[in-house]
Amino acid sequence: MAETRQINKDLLPRVVPVEPPSREPQTADEAIIRVRGLQVGFGEKIILDNLDLDVRRGEVMGFVGGSGTGKSVLTRAILGLVQKRAGTIEVFGQDLDALDRKGHREMERRWGVLFQHGALFSGLNVRQNIQVPMREYLDLSQELMDELALLKIEMVGLSPDAAEKFPSELSGGMIKRAALARALALDPDILFLDEPTSGLDPIGAAEFDQLIATLQKTLGLTVFMVTHDLDSLYSICDRIAALAERKVIAAGSVAEILKLDHPWLRAYFHGERAQRRESGGGTGHARP
Ligand SMILES: Nc1ncnc2c1ncn2[C@@H]1O[C@H](COP(=O)(O)OP(=O)(O)O)[C@@H](O)[C@H]1O
Ligand SMILES: [Mg+2]
Repeated sequence: MAETRQINKDLLPRVVPVEPPSREPQTADEAIIRVRGLQVGFGEKIILDNLDLDVRRGEVMGFVGGSGTGKSVLTRAILGLVQKRAGTIEVFGQDLDALDRKGHREMERRWGVLFQHGALFSGLNVRQNIQVPMREYLDLSQELMDELALLKIEMVGLSPDAAEKFPSELSGGMIKRAALARALALDPDILFLDEPTSGLDPIGAAEFDQLIATLQKTLGLTVFMVTHDLDSLYSICDRIAALAERKVIAAGSVAEILKLDHPWLRAYFHGERAQRRESGGGTGHARP
């Protein structure tokens, strides 16, 4: 198990580097997602309260927190899929509340999402799954959509013959890659990934991490990744934000977070699983 970081290079994407998108002025620390004072609840239950978060342009942010603390709820709130009770959410400097329907659709074209349980549509093959967002947001010929789908399939390291396969014919890792290809269908600027490596074996998870890192660099993406996976946090995240007590209790580099003295952070980063990881005898890719 000490070799969990061995990567099958053939599975890595072959993509042509492009200039990162430059639709807004760029500064080093610019927050591409800025959340302030967010409150989200369901009935009597408050899940997130007075939550602040900044995700900077071009970074991979790892978002951690105990199970059921509201990581997916936060992701969905940013995407406008869960209603908030208070606070503001700005993406690309635009207050999402101020957008009309057209503005919101334009925003949706600029982010791609891999939901936690966001498997593919079982009745559609991989090519058709990738084309779902294209049909919804773009007006392209079938021929062009077929070419684009093949390009995305190649980008995520799947072979072209995966295009005509149905989800039931794919392994767990291939399903994740296909779902990632669908998230990339509209060439987004931001990628939201909700526990992308959960359910994968350690080698599959490490390969998926490297795929995300490669895509992030070559496509100039900003990545917001909810994860339980210590290996992912150490290997591909530029910064980490931690959710506890209904808010972001800390955000910073791994080194900065490791210095903090919060009980949850200590248990998480210095706990049994972390020590197994450090001793090389196990892997943080295991589920908590
Ligand atoms: N649509 C909903 N209605 C009511 N409660 C919800 C809803 N979605 C999530 N919750 C609750 O919010 C809490 C946080 O959930 P979630 O964000 O999925 O946790 P996690 O951090 O594991 O992703 C849980 O207690 C969950 O039951
Ligand atoms: Mg979740």
